[in-house]
Amino acid sequence: MDREWKYRRLDQASPEEIASLKAQVSQSEWRQRYHIQPIMGLLNDPNGFSYYNGEYHLFYQWFPLGTFHGLKYWYHTSSKDLVHWQNNGIAIEPGHPHDAYGAYSGSGIVKDDKLHLMYTGNSRDEEWNRHSYQCMAVMDRGGTITKLDKPLIDQVPDGYTEHFRDPKVWRDEDKYRFVIGAQRVDQTGTAVVYESPNLLNWTHRGEIHTRLDHFGYMWECPDYFELDGQGVLLFSPQGLSPQDDQFQNIYQSGYILGRPLDRESLKFEHGAFHELDRGFDFYAPQTTLDEKDRRIMVAWMGLPEIEYPTDSHGWAHCLTLPRVLTFREGKLIQQPVPELEVLRENAVEAADTLHSEAKSYAGIHGEVFEMICEFHDIEADVVGIEFRAGESERTVIWYDTLTQKITLDRTSSGETIVSNHGSTRSCVLEAKGDSIKIHLFVDVSSAELFINDGEEVFTSRIFPKKDSRNIRFFAKNGSTGLKVAKWDLC
Ligand code: FRU
Repeated sequence: MDREWKYRRLDQASPEEIASLKAQVSQSEWRQRYHIQPIMGLLNDPNGFSYYNGEYHLFYQWFPLGTFHGLKYWYHTSSKDLVHWQNNGIAIEPGHPHDAYGAYSGSGIVKDDKLHLMYTGNSRDEEWNRHSYQCMAVMDRGGTITKLDKPLIDQVPDGYTEHFRDPKVWRDEDKYRFVIGAQRVDQTGTAVVYESPNLLNWTHRGEIHTRLDHFGYMWECPDYFELDGQGVLLFSPQGLSPQDDQFQNIYQSGYILGRPLDRESLKFEHGAFHELDRGFDFYAPQTTLDEKDRRIMVAWMGLPEIEYPTDSHGWAHCLTLPRVLTFREGKLIQQPVPELEVLRENAVEAADTLHSEAKSYAGIHGEVFEMICEFHDIEADVVGIEFRAGESERTVIWYDTLTQKITLDRTSSGETIVSNHGSTRSCVLEAKGDSIKIHLFVDVSSAELFINDGEEVFTSRIFPKKDSRNIRFFAKNGSTGLKVAKWDLC
């Protein structure tokens, strides 16, 4: 693509062009009802997720003038309840020499009653070499955001390429620290730590020493935090090959868990890398600690380098629902924030026993809904749910009791996503006897399925027709008990 076109600024577009882009978006049948989505153009990573001045602030990477990864801005949204989000417009505009080719991802932290936003300035020189700067913008209580004129860090340390980005800042008792995604000169990915007494003067401390020395060629969007006395490093490694059911998407997002990071030696003793999500569309998650001391995570419900059906409608992607992170039996658990219950309307319930059959129930259907479904006393080989189903469309989630695998199948979900990464995703569930719980949040063009109270999550875009609204429950080769509660969401 022509570079000038790719890096076009919003103010280079005419009012007529912007009006026509917005008109195109308003015609799209796949606009979401309760997810954060761009007014036009492309959204990617969540940025600067913070609680400040009595509200949650959530920014995201935004390219307004197309559905490709062009010149990135930060777009600002805010919410009092993590459910209803207000669009506040552009937060950080690229344009200084050090961020002329994009205000890339970063994070937020409150200091001196101001929200400090740290981000990566993406720049290019005349030979089109990338240069990466770590920058800051400061938001006051009135919502005014001011960029600092100079970057805080204007050099990538020796040993790393210019793929050095996405600072995630936190405060320890003694200092501020951030972790940043990096690529070593030998083309392996890692995470690097800096520290500062005041958020302005930063010292490069070195890499987090993990056991994952050869684990992809770049780690994007790292995030370090502690929960219940354990250290957690989230990151999005690029360049892993699929392994059985794992690493099926183009890029991964996951975590390693261990003893708290040693702040002196930067040694991190940790266990295996776990994928955070088992679905098709999940990347670059970011967390924050809220005023209730909850660790809340949001991710981009999309992936780079894949075309989506809304591209031709002038917009692309959305964010996931906010999820509370906790531990259960050494595993990171994700649950939708309970605040979402305010969206519930028109409760319908059903209870039944299925015998090698598929069944629907009066009032249990819909386009935009939440549903909690428990299969219990399972004797069948397979139990499952078809939703957003019509004559030829359906999205299916099923559990095979023989293999203990749960599978999401979007082969016939509707308009296909151009991807050579397959149309089913599976994972093994840790044995839970003879029952399984599936908690679904379905929006016009997405599904987030929380399995066994957040032990696994499948997050996916789907693009069914509006009238594909049926829900069917099935059991194969045997019987199962079934309990369902369903709400419309509005
Ligand atoms: C991850 C990412 C980040 C970068 C941003 C640019 O999706 O590539 O590493 O800062 O997107 O939009």
